[in-house]
Amino acid sequence: MIKVLLTGSQGQLGFSIKKLKPKGIQLVSLDKDQFDLSKIANIKNNLEDIKPDFIINCGAYTNVDMAENEKENVMNINANSVKEIALYLKKHGGNLIQISTDYVFDGLSSKAYKVNDKICPLNQYGLSKAKSEKFIGEILGKTNQGMVIRTSWLMGSIGKNFLLTMIKLHQSKKEINVVSDQISCPTSTKTLAEACWKALKLKLERNIYKDNFMPILHWCDNGIASWYDIAIAIGEISTKNGLLNSPAFINPVKSENYPTKAKRPRFSLLDCNSSRDFLGLKGEYWRESLEVSINSIIKNKK
Ligand SMILES: NC(=O)c1ccc[n+]([C@@H]2O[C@H](COP(=O)([O-])OP(=O)(O)OC[C@H]3O[C@@H](n4cnc5c(N)ncnc54)[C@H](OP(=O)(O)O)[C@@H]3O)[C@@H](O)[C@H]2O)c1
Repeated sequence: MIKVLLTGSQGQLGFSIKKLKPKGIQLVSLDKDQFDLSKIANIKNNLEDIKPDFIINCGAYTNVDMAENEKENVMNINANSVKEIALYLKKHGGNLIQISTDYVFDGLSSKAYKVNDKICPLNQYGLSKAKSEKFIGEILGKTNQGMVIRTSWLMGSIGKNFLLTMIKLHQSKKEINVVSDQISCPTSTKTLAEACWKALKLKLERNIYKDNFMPILHWCDNGIASWYDIAIAIGEISTKNGLLNSPAFINPVKSENYPTKAKRPRFSLLDCNSSRDFLGLKGEYWRESLEVSINSIIKNKK
């Protein structure tokens, strides 16, 4: 049986990866305490004990603003650990699916970013993720063992994310200010987890990524939106489906009026066309994905 190690198993994506595990896979799901990516010196020994055929690396330092003050820690968790993992896999065999981010781009484009577009991160989080991609390219680029899946604005029914924060704000406030000049697309943890499992299946069945290059995929839900659009949709869908009595009024605000520690790209929409073809998945319109997540939240409350 194929043994898959999932890191960061208590995170929102980890939750969906576990939930959607296909048959015939032995999943070793480890949380931060059981497989700590910041403890670089332990990674090799931990992997020697587990001997995974595949690693889906969902563990990460994901607080984009706090990352600005914790450069070293962020670099260890998000990049140096990945280097160790890649070195282990190169020596012992096995494959890596690394989750990366739209924040590797600077957001100055006005066209959706393609997988081979130049990366130029604006913040420490993006920088650390870009470094992890570089390590995988350098170490596993020619060995057909690594894949990077970039995603954007991830949200599911559990954990910490924009969806759950907005539902609380809709419940407790009459008006909410939400940034309207950052554009990308939300991604449900469910559709991303499906994409990860499909990538793994393709590799197992057809060894499909074998052309001496590190495949980079883009995966977000279909469409385009600002945080403002998503906040409105969350209010509308949650009200329609009985989670809220009524939505709060959303004021669109500019990023400059909502200062944050980390700079964020203004436009970071990922072009997923080639990745959808590669994976043989059509994707889902983001409002429909969002509704599925909201319905899961409603179900979890019962
Ligand atoms: N969230 C987004 O909008 C977004 C967008 C693009 C890409 N991504 C990427 O998608 C992946 C999954 O993100 P997510 O949204 O599921 O994040 P998440 O919910 O924050 O999950 C990340 C998990 O990693 C754990 N973790 C933190 N430090 C760790 C360490 N030293 N060792 C091992 N695990 C550690 C976290 O534990 P604690 O919570 O206890 O710290 C958490 O359980 C990450 O690679 C992230 O960079 C996320």
